[in-house]
Amino acid sequence: MKTLIAYFSHVGENLQDNEIVVLEKGNTEVVAEKLAELTDGDLFKIEEEEPYPFKYDDCLRRARREDENNEHPAMKGGPRLNMDDYDTVYIGFPIWYRTYPRVVASFLDQYDFAGKKIKPFCTNDEGTFGISLLEMQGALRGASIADGLAIRGVDVHKAEERIKAYAE
Ligand SMILES: Cc1cc2nc3c(=O)[nH]c(=O)nc-3n(C[C@H](O)[C@H](O)[C@H](O)COP(=O)(O)O)c2cc1C
Repeated sequence: MKTLIAYFSHVGENLQDNEIVVLEKGNTEVVAEKLAELTDGDLFKIEEEEPYPFKYDDCLRRARREDENNEHPAMKGGPRLNMDDYDTVYIGFPIWYRTYPRVVASFLDQYDFAGKKIKPFCTNDEGTFGISLLEMQGALRGASIADGLAIRGVDVHKAEERIKAYAE
């Protein structure tokens, strides 16, 4: 059985130390790539069909709208993983508006995760998972969900030891 690292990461303006910055590579992507290296797992990038806005304010507005209406926006590419191949699935995302971006909810809809070991990880500005883990527990009944690894966006490049420990 194999390990999958599925993640979403936003290209564009982000909130870091309460300031708006543009990153060359998304924070969650940095962590996802390290996990793939450490576990020899397959990387899968969750992408939305209608791109999230580049500008932070616009992106936040859309994130709030999707959250308030409980939208699960279409994913680019549709379901194309054979989930039966994997026994361990890392699921990574930035915290948006206190939980995972709604396109990650769309990803969770697409597959049956029952019986799998789920290892959530997130990057954020405030340091916590917000309500995302609780929400994931509700969405993935029958899966065994680990406590999770939360890393502040400003710390992703100095989190090697924590990432290593989580990958074991
Ligand atoms: C639309 C939007 C909403 C955000 N909301 C939160 C939030 O509620 N709490 C938080 O700690 N960080 C929030 N952030 C900051 C991101 O979680 C953080 O910058 C993260 O590391 C971005 O990861 P990425 O580069 O992989 O997309 C938000 C960022 C964006 C763009």
